[in-house]
Amino acid sequence: MGHPVLKNPAARVEDPSAPEIQQLIRDMIETLADSGGIGLAATQVYVPLQVLMFYVPAARMAVTGEAAVPLTILINPVIEPLSEIMEDDWEACLSVPGLMGKVPRFRDIRYSGQAPDGQFLSRQATGYHARVVQHEADHLFGRVYPQRMTDLSTLIFREELKHQLDANRAQPEE
Ligand code: NI
Repeated sequence: MGHPVLKNPAARVEDPSAPEIQQLIRDMIETLADSGGIGLAATQVYVPLQVLMFYVPAARMAVTGEAAVPLTILINPVIEPLSEIMEDDWEACLSVPGLMGKVPRFRDIRYSGQAPDGQFLSRQATGYHARVVQHEADHLFGRVYPQRMTDLSTLIFREELKHQLDANRAQPEE
């Protein structure tokens, strides 16, 4: 957080099929896998181009009842809210290590852009799926999640949150 590449809007990709873009995508897939995260934007690897990728793991499906989403690579993304409804939920970010915060996001969106083969891609998303896409797209607009928070009292170290959740669980049930 604070690096100039993360603070400025990324540039459009003119030709998704260009070898340097295909190489960037391969590098980002590797970085995402190494990170253990679920999403990554090109600006997070210091490349100021509009490329993002994410997936929604099946484990998340069990929690929310939503469908898992396979690894999706989106170039030149556009996000359109489909309702005014906002939801708060926890987010974390590779560029803001160790922290988590509750971030309001649109619950329902349509996102579109180009796939790596240049084909137009457009999907409707809701809940966690919509959240992940908004988080990653924000990186390309020069924003990290704390800038979207409306209640900074929920910005918390991940370790501290874990302590608190463990302590709550340890309490005897009444
Ligand atoms: Ni992030």
